[in-house]
Amino acid sequence: MQIIAAHNIGFCFGVERAIRIAKEEAKRHGGAVYTYGELIHNAAVIRELEEEGIRAAESLEDIPQGSPVILRSHGVTPQEIERCHEKSFLLTDATCPFVKKIHGIVGEYCERGYHIVIFGSSDHPEVKGIAGWCRNARVVSSAQEAESLPFVEKLCLVSQTTASYEPFLEVTDILSKKAGEFLFFNTICETTATRQFEAEALSKKCTKMIVVGSPHSSNTQKLVQICEKYCNYVLPVSKDCELSLENIATNDIIGVVGGASTPIWIIMEVITRMSELEKTMAESPEVEKVEAEVAATVEQPIPAESEHAAAQDASEPSFEEVFEKTLVRIKNGQIIKGSVVQIVDGEVCVNIGYKSDGFIPRNEFSTDTDVNPSDVVKVGDEIEVEVIKVNDGEGNVLLSRKNVEGKKIWDELMQDEAIQDKVFTGIGKEVVKGGMIATINGIRAFVPASQLSTKYVENIGDFVGEEISLKVIEVDKSRKRIVASHKAVMQAEAEIVRKELWAKLEVGAKVNGIVRRLTDFGAFVDIGGIDGLVHVTDVAWGRVKHPSDVLSIGQEIEVLIRDVDIEKQRVSLGYKQLQPKPWTMANEKYPVGSIVEGRVVRIVPFGAFVALEPTIDGLIHISQVGVRRIEKVEDEINVGDIVRCKVLDVNTEAKRISLSRREVVLEENPEVAEELAKEKADREQQAADRAAERAAAMESAKATRENSPAARTDKRRTRREDSEYELPPVQSATTSLADLFSNFSEENEN
Ligand code: F3S
Repeated sequence: MQIIAAHNIGFCFGVERAIRIAKEEAKRHGGAVYTYGELIHNAAVIRELEEEGIRAAESLEDIPQGSPVILRSHGVTPQEIERCHEKSFLLTDATCPFVKKIHGIVGEYCERGYHIVIFGSSDHPEVKGIAGWCRNARVVSSAQEAESLPFVEKLCLVSQTTASYEPFLEVTDILSKKAGEFLFFNTICETTATRQFEAEALSKKCTKMIVVGSPHSSNTQKLVQICEKYCNYVLPVSKDCELSLENIATNDIIGVVGGASTPIWIIMEVITRMSELEKTMAESPEVEKVEAEVAATVEQPIPAESEHAAAQDASEPSFEEVFEKTLVRIKNGQIIKGSVVQIVDGEVCVNIGYKSDGFIPRNEFSTDTDVNPSDVVKVGDEIEVEVIKVNDGEGNVLLSRKNVEGKKIWDELMQDEAIQDKVFTGIGKEVVKGGMIATINGIRAFVPASQLSTKYVENIGDFVGEEISLKVIEVDKSRKRIVASHKAVMQAEAEIVRKELWAKLEVGAKVNGIVRRLTDFGAFVDIGGIDGLVHVTDVAWGRVKHPSDVLSIGQEIEVLIRDVDIEKQRVSLGYKQLQPKPWTMANEKYPVGSIVEGRVVRIVPFGAFVALEPTIDGLIHISQVGVRRIEKVEDEINVGDIVRCKVLDVNTEAKRISLSRREVVLEENPEVAEELAKEKADREQQAADRAAERAAAMESAKATRENSPAARTDKRRTRREDSEYELPPVQSATTSLADLFSNFSEENEN
């Protein structure tokens, strides 16, 4: 009996990734993690996951609100994601990237007006998920169904990742004739395709095939179908205990293949069990010599009958020895050393001791995309590389030097205990949801939008392609994730500048600043990273009710440092101290004779005070308030009135300015001045007339007195009395003339 195991066995990339994510999430949340649907079609693995607290829920409604939920590799519809958000799940999307790519294709081409056709099983969760990312998708599972589709203008065909290649080609051919414009994407996962090709090749060569995997797994079913096409005996098993020797002959060549969701340990158990069966058979006298080879490549020729015989030698390696040999095969993800054999167009060909050379595509050479491989390595150099793909589909081994370099950089970064204190130069790579991806020494780091700057960033795309200084603020070693911040760098730089500024602050120095905030008690002024306070009493020389009377937000001003308290981090500033004192300029600002305008702020019995500016008031004396004489100031003006006045006098020492409203009114109203002049002239004329009358009366009285007998007889007495007599004041002469005369009469009578 010969056992030939397929080359590609064990979990596919997507399943392995989903399981790893689920286990990490379970660890992070201490168990109680849900997966939407079974993560994998394998009961043993599901049991193992359950033991770690990872439970599968068939419906989102079965999951408690706010639980951690993992979306499996099959993917889901946008509506289901929406529902998860509604239920506040802590969502981790483990959808296989290959499936996600299909979501993107159908979404894009649906938007472009293509009818979307999915080749696959309509009841498969992956297909349901894909259909959710576009409108009105049709699902076909066979050529017959494809034939029944109507002709359409534009058609785009994709495939379920686990579909079989041949029927897909058939459907592609049919649908290409059913559309004016036809596009198809071969989205059958390479893992699936490779396993199918291997299954086909093995089943053509083997007498019996064993397909290890869950009967519910789509790709296991496909493998069974393919094997059945070329091999008469196909035994699907999900675990080793289902194996039996019945129907297996000693000369059988048995091929072993496994589905993408079958863990490698189950396949190894099956193979081990077969080796035990093999021994049992070997102990039987009629059993021929059995040979087994595990993990032989499909290309390996199956030994001819004669070779079989030759192999039935006592020195034939045991199963364990052959198995040991398989461990040295190259596999994806393996890091190996090789020597450079050729460098062509930036691609490096490397001899890794495998049956075919490996090559490093240019984009896999270095984490620094600008590096030219020829400048770094030369033919004959030994380098370390990672196997990305054992077979790229054309028989080449795909290698990456970049991954090895990245791992080394990562390890170095992780060993650096001061990683979070360092500033790295990163490059903005791409805008992603919630922020940007940047590379730090070739390692991807997520920079959240809120960490891009100390200010709001309008367009994150401005950072793409640019150098950006970054600090690492979070590291998830298990997921190899770094969260970085440019804001932290900016803050650290500002802190240094601030410290330097504090050290430079000197009481008595003048500095420039920007008014940032105004409060009742003062104005906060930014003097280059430090906010100092100008107290309201230091805003202006005069009394101000609120700093906004003098200052405004955003105003650039020069201030005087009045006090610095480094401990309390307080700086007192003065603004008025750098402004001229108002009264020193009053002479220039308010020259005598100039006309000024101001608000009446106070009225007193002798006049009104007028505010010319916040710190300077002038006085209008009551006699200068109106054009005519008034009893009280309020007869003409009131508090709050705006008045125009002429400056009569400025006394800066006494801080007094005399104003006249009367003069302005007269200057501005000539008819009033004329009227006043006329009144004055009239008054003067009347006074002159009265004076003349009085003089005449006096003359007449005097003559009468001198000619009277009494005057003549006692001239001496009269003269004395005349000298003692005082005339009443002129202004009262008119009114007192009669009295005067009556006095004279009485005296004469006496
Ligand atoms: Fe993904 Fe392919 Fe596996 S699509 S889940 S890697 S079979």
